[in-house]
Amino acid sequence: MEKNKKKIMKGIILAGGTATRLFPLTATTSKQLLPVYDRQMIFYPLNTLIKAGIKEILIIVAPENSGQFLNLIGSIFEKIGVHIEFMVQTSPRGLADAFIVAEDFIDRDDVVMILGDNIFEDGLSEAIKGFEKGGLIFAKDVPDPERSGVVEFDDENRVVSIEEKPQNPKSSYAVVGAYVFDYRVIEFAKSLKPSARGEIEIVDIQLKYLEINELKVEKIEGEWLDAGTFDSLLDASNLVKEKKLYKNFDKTIEKAILNYNQKLKEIAKRKII
Ligand code: TTP
Repeated sequence: MEKNKKKIMKGIILAGGTATRLFPLTATTSKQLLPVYDRQMIFYPLNTLIKAGIKEILIIVAPENSGQFLNLIGSIFEKIGVHIEFMVQTSPRGLADAFIVAEDFIDRDDVVMILGDNIFEDGLSEAIKGFEKGGLIFAKDVPDPERSGVVEFDDENRVVSIEEKPQNPKSSYAVVGAYVFDYRVIEFAKSLKPSARGEIEIVDIQLKYLEINELKVEKIEGEWLDAGTFDSLLDASNLVKEKKLYKNFDKTIEKAILNYNQKLKEIAKRKII
């Protein structure tokens, strides 16, 4: 990056993985291309990023699904001012691997990384726009925190600890799948050793920022779903229908989908002739 160039906020959607919990649905496609009510799951994290004003987005995909992502998203956003790139993660090495795969993309800028199967009711826009440096994560009060990373706060709402899937959670606040970091995240990710399950863990990145006293946590109120199981995938569709979340899409996304439909109509017309 040129010296003195102003930092921008970039976005990454981590949409690889093996999605074993959704077999056999994911034997033929990616989890993030499965439907959530009226559109593919990937449009939700895209919406969260676009609503936060992000115009440069990298989607990280598994090699076997890259063609399908290209077919759907390809260049439909290009006309409307959002630049989308793809990169292949050759094997699912863990969530923190996103920052290594995306090293060149991030360059010296800040980055929001969203898990491709996470659906947020509210935008995280204000917090993302207000980011200055270090790390920012989001936490949600949930009935089952032991399924996620759990944040412990002190009386002044500062983070004291973060524990991954603890048996005895120290609070009911789960870390959700959206993380904002400055470019130092690349070096932090490279320095990590794989955990017992053989992955480099995003919690270890958060702990690095906590160690240097640069980790902030923002509590979120709206619905949050990780659509990675049969039940949560179904819940996601039901929630979108009941709460009319399909009306929450940025007009950029609606335009992109219209472009896509237009493209399909043109292809159909050509076939009839
Ligand atoms: P997970 O739900 O933890 O993993 P998974 O999608 O492979 O599913 P399962 O546990 O059922 O096998 O992943 C969370 C998100 O991160 C999801 O959108 C997939 C993505 N991911 C990657 O892109 N690369 C990876 O190395 C991993 C572990 C996950």
